[in-house]
Amino acid sequence: MELTFNRTAEQIVASDRPLSDAARKPVLVRELSSADRERLLAHFLSLDEDDRLLRFGQIVPDHVIENYVRNLNFTNDTVFGVFSASLELVGVGHLAYLPAQGDKRTAEFGVSVLESARGRGIGTKLFERAAIRSRNTHVSELYVHCLSRNKTMMHIARKAGMKIEYAYGEADAYLSLQPADQTSIMAEMLQEQAAVFDYAIKRQAHRATQMFKAFLPTADAA
Ligand SMILES: CC(C)(COP(=O)(O)OP(=O)(O)OC[C@H]1O[C@@H](n2cnc3c(N)ncnc32)[C@H](O)[C@@H]1OP(=O)(O)O)[C@@H](O)C(=O)NCCC(=O)NCCS
Repeated sequence: MELTFNRTAEQIVASDRPLSDAARKPVLVRELSSADRERLLAHFLSLDEDDRLLRFGQIVPDHVIENYVRNLNFTNDTVFGVFSASLELVGVGHLAYLPAQGDKRTAEFGVSVLESARGRGIGTKLFERAAIRSRNTHVSELYVHCLSRNKTMMHIARKAGMKIEYAYGEADAYLSLQPADQTSIMAEMLQEQAAVFDYAIKRQAHRATQMFKAFLPTADAA
């Protein structure tokens, strides 16, 4: 798969119409840690019933999501996120490593993007990042399971060159990955550095705004 870095997104603005590649701003994907659990929980709880069905394959109530987030294992699996300017986690990709079968290592990818942030390349970027991480961790096959009516995910999978098998209203998509090379390792390192830097800037700006608001006179005082 060709991993390009000129895709764009961000400036999260609600819109029904997907933007063209040229109109999208850069999407920076950062690896998440247990420190991000609270934001992960807020992200998944924001998904409506149908999105939860598309993401998890079944309608999951809040307590199941709470359990899922509490038990996310950041050592065994890798979780990626995309943040808005206000530090809302607008996109999450979960890469879970399946038990190896001989030389064959497979990882399963699941993704969700908040409705307000869709059509801006975030889902695609999360997928690309998961693919490059998979290559760099000796995974030979990336796997996505979803409902066959999930046209958007099917489109992303097809665009990435995945082989798709349909059965009983569900779809399994497979992507054979090239082994890691210097380019894939450097590319991932640079992407992560850019995302960490971008997050730090957003956090500073967010704190400054909060501080500024605290100094503003309240309506009561006026
Ligand atoms: C699937 C999902 C992650 C996509 O996120 P996103 O950020 O909107 O994805 P992107 O913007 O990267 O790409 C969407 C692509 O699908 C296309 N698309 C959108 N709706 C479509 C439809 N009904 N049919 C075909 N293609 C469609 C867009 O035009 C875009 O294509 P392009 O990049 O070639 O222009 C998001 O819709 C989501 O969270 N859905 C609920 C959970 C889910 O379905 N998860 C996947 C299963 S694990």
